[in-house]
Amino acid sequence: MKKVAVIGSSGQLGTDISSVLSQDVGINLYLLDHSKIECTDKLSVENALFDINPEVVINCAAFVRVDDCEEESHAAFSVNALGASYVAQACVDIDATVVYISTDYVFDGGKSSPYTEQDTTNPLNVYGESKLEGERLVRDLCPKHFIVRSSGLYGHRQGNKGGLAGNFVETMLKLADKGGLIRVVNDQILTPTFTKDLGGTIAELVDTDKYGTYHITNSGECSWYEFGKTVFELSGLSPDYGPVSSSKYGAKAKRPEYSVLDNTSIHSLGITPLRPWKEALKQYLNLRERP
Ligand SMILES: NC(=O)c1ccc[n+]([C@@H]2O[C@H](COP(=O)([O-])OP(=O)(O)OC[C@H]3O[C@@H](n4cnc5c(N)ncnc54)[C@H](OP(=O)(O)O)[C@@H]3O)[C@@H](O)[C@H]2O)c1
Repeated sequence: MKKVAVIGSSGQLGTDISSVLSQDVGINLYLLDHSKIECTDKLSVENALFDINPEVVINCAAFVRVDDCEEESHAAFSVNALGASYVAQACVDIDATVVYISTDYVFDGGKSSPYTEQDTTNPLNVYGESKLEGERLVRDLCPKHFIVRSSGLYGHRQGNKGGLAGNFVETMLKLADKGGLIRVVNDQILTPTFTKDLGGTIAELVDTDKYGTYHITNSGECSWYEFGKTVFELSGLSPDYGPVSSSKYGAKAKRPEYSVLDNTSIHSLGITPLRPWKEALKQYLNLRERP
């Protein structure tokens, strides 16, 4: 039996990836939520991982609140970079493969066609900087690594942080329920990605020994405004909804205007492309009603 440990197992991606791996009879799965491991504490990381001695460690733990990272850069770097390096070093010590999840926000958005893994990185915000530093440390420390960049994640989260709350889809539905104006930026283009789909593809990827950096998202692209519009259309809701420019919206962290990721590398391994983002969103909304 292969031993696989998932760090951040109660987060959105951690929940879905754990659910996919739990269906594999050849895998002994170890769920490391925040109560079982503190990534910013080297000893905690070593205690948890040396005890299990897994062949694969999937690190889904992160400080993901992009705007908060601007004022809490120390916390962001502690989890996303230093913590990731503790996990990667522990993996070297036990000869395990490490998977680090990164982001489209390592790019500056200056392109107008999808970013490949070879494109130059240049983050615009602290979150992106901390994730890029995490990538660098993982790459330098652990030869057996997969770095997976994705974008606009939404999924069903476990744990104690408000159940379904906390992703863009849930925020839109909550705002619609509350009533009043809803304005979303229409000048940032991305690919929304369902963590159930991403989790399934990561599970396929770690079954190969094709270590390296990969872009994995659902297919297609849209603005955040269009993403929200589709949430309402598929949910049969018609709130007072409209577009706004990023400059007018005035978020604390600057974000790329275009951060669509080219998935060609993952497909060239023979892994099936992920479905269009609207299909994935439809399933998320259906499962949400009937979990
Ligand atoms: N969300 C997005 O749109 C997005 C886009 C691109 C890439 N990503 C990347 O995808 C990965 C998964 O994101 P997600 O949306 O699934 O995040 P999430 O739902 O916030 O899950 C992150 C998990 O990490 C845990 N965690 C946080 N700090 C920790 C620490 N110091 N030690 C141990 N565990 C810790 C959290 O536990 P508690 O909540 O209990 O603290 C939470 O369960 C992250 O690497 C993120 O950077 C996310």
